[in-house]
Amino acid sequence: MAAGNVIVTMVLPAPRWWMAAFVATATFAVSAAAAASDTPEIAKAKYLWSQSPHGKMLERILPPTIEPRDLPEPRSEGARLTARYCVQCHYLPNPQMHTAAKWVPIVERMVWRMQGRGNLGELMKEMMADIQAPSQEEVLILTRYLRKHGLKEIDAGHPALKSTAGQIFSIACSQCHAPPDPLRHTAREWPKVVKRMKRHMAWANVVVGVSELRTVPELKTDEIVRFLQRNARPEPKAK
Ligand code: HEC
Ligand code: HEC
Repeated sequence: MAAGNVIVTMVLPAPRWWMAAFVATATFAVSAAAAASDTPEIAKAKYLWSQSPHGKMLERILPPTIEPRDLPEPRSEGARLTARYCVQCHYLPNPQMHTAAKWVPIVERMVWRMQGRGNLGELMKEMMADIQAPSQEEVLILTRYLRKHGLKEIDAGHPALKSTAGQIFSIACSQCHAPPDPLRHTAREWPKVVKRMKRHMAWANVVVGVSELRTVPELKTDEIVRFLQRNARPEPKAK
């Protein structure tokens, strides 16, 4: 079955409809090498990227951050369904990326895509012939799972947001998801998290110097790190 599907994928027309949604990623090379740990779904997605002239765009939608076993509650039905359905077009999404409120419309949009709707009609339908969509019941489980492990947003009334550093934080860190609650991590943890986010920005080719802040082309994250550290979760007491 799997082998047959791969052959079908090969003869499908180029999925040009992705073009409309993504620009400026074409200079990157596809770096997704097949790995022994790949599930059949991930292997299939990588194959699709390698065959399609627009694979580079698919690959850049989400950075490769987690493996199925790193998902929260990896043995739950929600994790299983995420690893099954959500890697057919891009890397595995991390449930911690979005707030519970944001996951609802995102799952709706993704299910709509999996059902072969939207975008360039017939062309997309053919390209999507091989993509599986979850049942109604599975959609509920997926949504509940992603919401349960979602990101907690910083309180919009947080007094520190009024400072310049707070504003830089909120503009720079809301380009891809809601700006997080600084209490999520300790002062010691935040620098590593922000460093990872800088890598994601380069991966997604997001314009790093947000236009509102663009005095220098590269976002200076030192000030953001200090902002997060000032408002961070206290370090656990040494035992
Ligand atoms: C049929 C292909 C396809 C499948 C399967 C798919 N996605 Fe997507 N996904 C896309 C496309 C195309 C984009 C970029 C455009 C957009 O955001 O709608 C995207 C973007 C995303 C983004 C980044 C954009 C954002 O709003 O943060 C997230 C997160 C995401 N998908 C989550 C999921 C989840 C969760 C699932 C499984 C329930 C899933 N995707 C399954 C095609 C797919
Ligand atoms: C280019 C898109 C992008 C930008 C901009 C971005 N993030 Fe993220 N963020 C992600 C992705 C993708 C994930 C999920 C994968 C992960 O955790 O690395 C994530 C997850 C998170 C998480 C939850 C996971 C954890 O380790 O707690 C936090 C917190 C976070 N981001 C903080 C930030 C901060 C602070 C900034 C601003 C400096 C920022 N993000 C800017 C893409 C982005």
